[in-house]
Amino acid sequence: MTNALITGWGMYAPSRVMTNDDLAELVDTNDEWIVTRTGIRERRIAADDETTTSMSVNAARDALAVAGLDPAELDLVIVATCTPDYPLPATSVTVASALGARHAAGFDLQAACSGFLYAYATGSSFLASGMYRNVLVIGVEILSRFLDWTDRSTCVLFGDGAGAVLLQASDQHGGLLGVDLFSDGTGCEAIIVPAGGTVRPASVETVEARQHKIRMLGSEVYKYATRQMGESALAALRNAGLTVDDIDQFVFHQANLRIINSVQRQFGIPDDKTFVNIAKYGNTSAASVPMALVEAVGSGRVHPGDRVLMVAFGGGYTAGGAVIEWTADPARALLAPGEQTRMGRPQQSLAGAAV
Ligand code: ACO
Repeated sequence: MTNALITGWGMYAPSRVMTNDDLAELVDTNDEWIVTRTGIRERRIAADDETTTSMSVNAARDALAVAGLDPAELDLVIVATCTPDYPLPATSVTVASALGARHAAGFDLQAACSGFLYAYATGSSFLASGMYRNVLVIGVEILSRFLDWTDRSTCVLFGDGAGAVLLQASDQHGGLLGVDLFSDGTGCEAIIVPAGGTVRPASVETVEARQHKIRMLGSEVYKYATRQMGESALAALRNAGLTVDDIDQFVFHQANLRIINSVQRQFGIPDDKTFVNIAKYGNTSAASVPMALVEAVGSGRVHPGDRVLMVAFGGGYTAGGAVIEWTADPARALLAPGEQTRMGRPQQSLAGAAV
């Protein structure tokens, strides 16, 4: 049987840090409210010249370098995002060009904050079917460009970032052990960018009414997310034939520390098995799970043979859970643990890239 193993991983966080105190200068909020309600202390904000493509490329180049794979050997690039460069064309195509992945197919996938798990499951299926051997899966967002910076109920929650994994076909045991994907369109209005699509095409009126910005019914989403994260976790475990006790590390979508803590309490999951980095990045939507996975590996929390359960919940509503068996040697990362992110490092040059 062909398994889809993670052989490379990387992430990118823009160097500009926006703290809760910085936000308090924009809207009527404060550090204490944000930290106690969400666990967020700061978030990264993309520079004006950064794009969804450029951030993806930074994360993807590290993933390819860790695996030692020439981009020309990539068969497919999947970009999970709800903040693409353009409505048309797909961001994955400009990412593939910028990487030099000249033989790769590419498409974008939109499932809001659950997008990476949907893309991961899709990429794994292409490998399991035998159609492809090398698939790059990226979760990336520049949510800061879709935030209403006058709306304190949303602008404090989100941040920008990118995470990437390289999936390679192998006969070795490991990779995806069980998965569950979920959607419920009754949540359509609960997290929404109301204009810019076919329902409300862009117009002067929609721009003036800030309808191209994210709106969210926070407490409704909170209740649904808390329940559904648990259900998606259980469904993925059932699919893998495993129980909570079989999992070595839990990597939850970083939307709200209280949601993560609630799922921990529900299943009795200790802190040392729960990776959390929301304080540094806020909710980076489709980038959240891969960024957390990369940092969990970099901080020595994940070892070969470990079972990792990733769970996400997002707009739509959508949700997903995936149990994987980690097989790669974490020491294959380019930099020392904790330094393998691009935080604070100069942005990689995209000279010559088709972006
Ligand atoms: N600073 C200070 N006060 C605030 C702020 C703020 N930034 N935001 C809201 N408040 C006020 C409200 O106005 C309200 O005041 P009132 O009682 O006088 O009306 C009070 O704080 C409580 O507001 P709630 O919305 O009830 O606060 P809650 O405890 O529910 O926390 C939060 C809000 C953090 C947004 C929470 O509901 C949440 O995390 N929701 C889930 C978000 C999520 O999981 N998203 C994932 C998907 S996102 C995606 O897919 C793109």
